[in-house]
Amino acid sequence: MSQSQLADTPNVGTRLGAAAVTDAQQTVKLPKGQISTVAIEKSYFKGDHKIPVLRGVEIAVNQGEFVSIVGQSGSGKSTLLHLIGLLDTPDVGEILLDGDRIDDLPAKTRDQLRNHVFGFIFQFYHLLPELSLLENVLTPLMIRHSLWSFWKQRRELREQAHEIIAKVGLGHRLKHKPSELSGGELQRAAIARALITRPAVLLADEPTGNLDSDTGREILDLLISLNEHDRLTIVMVTHDDSIARQAHRVVRLKEGRIEAVGRAA
Ligand SMILES: Nc1ncnc2c1ncn2[C@@H]1O[C@H](COP(=O)(O)OP(=O)(O)OP(=O)(O)O)[C@@H](O)[C@H]1O
Ligand SMILES: [Mg+2]
Repeated sequence: MSQSQLADTPNVGTRLGAAAVTDAQQTVKLPKGQISTVAIEKSYFKGDHKIPVLRGVEIAVNQGEFVSIVGQSGSGKSTLLHLIGLLDTPDVGEILLDGDRIDDLPAKTRDQLRNHVFGFIFQFYHLLPELSLLENVLTPLMIRHSLWSFWKQRRELREQAHEIIAKVGLGHRLKHKPSELSGGELQRAAIARALITRPAVLLADEPTGNLDSDTGREILDLLISLNEHDRLTIVMVTHDDSIARQAHRVVRLKEGRIEAVGRAA
């Protein structure tokens, strides 16, 4: 994680109560990755018609914890994940990172936090079809760096991308375009892209949803290993109860509310 860039962000150093790290001249606080939501409400509007989706959701995910969110289609799982990751804002309630509110920060600060703290695995991959696997994995770093800074550090950044692509088992597919990858490989590519920024929190929306059960199991094993070995906090949405139970805890959403929170088997 680029500490100096977080330090450039107004409020982040002072509002995130995380471990202090010394970075040359300045002390920067890096997030630990503890996430909670307080009484989150979110509705969508279709014309004048209000569709309440989340109606007072409270969850807390500890640093290094792996939590699954389950619930029927339309129960608000993706909406909740997007709110936690600052892709959208709640109508009511708060999102906290390490105990500090982050949903009300200025837009630019939220953009920087999103790019530094959260890694996203989207429900439908969202890989860019024209780019190779390596280029797709590098895109979050291109967004983070200016063109000049990316160009100057291109060798080092490409090395980082190679390392992460090898970690997800795709070292032999660097130049392949998304259309030349299998479903399981596409999901691994999406995971590599989410990891390239070295996030504290991984938000995964149905990471096994489009895969056969063996390939889904392999992806789950990869997430479990990232959680256990890299202490990555993971919030994973899934339809599949047998996948959900592999997490430390299962949170069930029903009609916009948390129905049950249980320890996994
Ligand atoms: N941008 C939007 N505008 C209007 N309604 C929306 C919008 N996004 C989501 N919704 C509605 O909000 C509800 C919750 O959507 P969400 O995508 O969070 O559900 P989900 O639990 O992730 O479902 P799935 O399991 O099918 O992915 C759905 O009824 C959906 O139609
Ligand atoms: Mg969804």
